[in-house]
Amino acid sequence: MSEAKPGAVAVVGAGGAVGREAVGILIERGYDPASIIAFGSERSSGRVLEFDKTKVNIRAYTPRQAAECESAILCTDADVSARIAPELADLGVFVVDNSSHFRMHPEVPLVIPEINGKLITLKPNPPIVANPNCSTIMLLTALNPIRRAFGVESVVVTTYQAVSGAGALAIDELYSETARALSGEKESPSVFPVSCAFNVFPHESARDSTGYSGEERKMIDESRRIWDSPTLNVLPTCVRVPVERAHAQSIVIKTASASSTNAIIEELRKAEGIRLHQSFELTPRIAAHTDQVHIGPVRESESDPGRTFVLWICCDQLRRGAALNAVECLILRSNTATKLTGSVCV
Ligand SMILES: NC(=O)c1ccc[n+]([C@@H]2O[C@H](COP(=O)([O-])OP(=O)(O)OC[C@H]3O[C@@H](n4cnc5c(N)ncnc54)[C@H](OP(=O)(O)O)[C@@H]3O)[C@@H](O)[C@H]2O)c1
Repeated sequence: MSEAKPGAVAVVGAGGAVGREAVGILIERGYDPASIIAFGSERSSGRVLEFDKTKVNIRAYTPRQAAECESAILCTDADVSARIAPELADLGVFVVDNSSHFRMHPEVPLVIPEINGKLITLKPNPPIVANPNCSTIMLLTALNPIRRAFGVESVVVTTYQAVSGAGALAIDELYSETARALSGEKESPSVFPVSCAFNVFPHESARDSTGYSGEERKMIDESRRIWDSPTLNVLPTCVRVPVERAHAQSIVIKTASASSTNAIIEELRKAEGIRLHQSFELTPRIAAHTDQVHIGPVRESESDPGRTFVLWICCDQLRRGAALNAVECLILRSNTATKLTGSVCV
């Protein structure tokens, strides 16, 4: 094993939608660009990522070169992560994986730093940590303060998911399909099963025998695991919308004990990583390129007052829902004072 460079971070899949974001956040958070080693497949070897004045070169992934880093953020598909993560962990590299591969693995912690970050620092330190699904991260970040104060009996959530959730190629497809539609050409989707231009459709991930899509299944299973609540009643409907970046969710939550709109807002105001909005004009565009989960005004059920509430939330799923979560896991692990994003009211 070669000597790890102190503080060096490998970002694998750096040219992808999440990977590019991870490199950018590391630079913003003060990591020396020379200590960020960007890897991709052979296809993106030699590509250069540009961030203001900083350029980062992508090289083809090799375990030997990546093992020169202390830690690695994997921004690769599940099959690639399944191969690379154990390989790097065996070489002594601390791995945070963005893919779904390890999320339900009993020995791999599934972490949202604001909720269960302590799992990263337990002894012995876990060699691999899994980042939850982006829709789960935004849902639980918004609901955790409410759960802590009043408990949660059930969650009904409908998602409005940006195309970038399906990767960099899906962003290209939104633009090309929109151009085709505007010029009257025949649609030609390849990432999605139907054209995403001027369209809304159920999430494209495969459905299991219960009828839930893969994305919906992740939201159920991961929420139960992170909250350590195996029978939690979560009812998701995941939908793709023609938005480039940032997901939205409509959430109906039933609390376990009596609450009120004002009490819920007060809990959200105190929480980390949340930005409260007083107007109903909250959109994915407002959340794009920001670090917080944005929450619009909370409404109360008229037939179940004090117990059932409706929330509208938006979140940059590439950033808060993936890359930033991974960087915060790295920071937690390296015991550097963690600067989590504070709550702001606008
Ligand atoms: N997009 C989201 O909103 C989101 C949110 C949460 C989690 N995730 C998860 O994060 C992971 C990355 O998603 P993404 O949306 O960023 O996908 P993406 O845009 O398709 O990027 C995937 C990256 O993986 C690289 N790659 C493929 N094979 C590789 C190999 N053998 N060695 C090294 N790099 C390889 C690709 O590099 P080349 O360009 O060289 O092929 C590409 O840059 C996925 O597991 C996804 O499920 C995504």
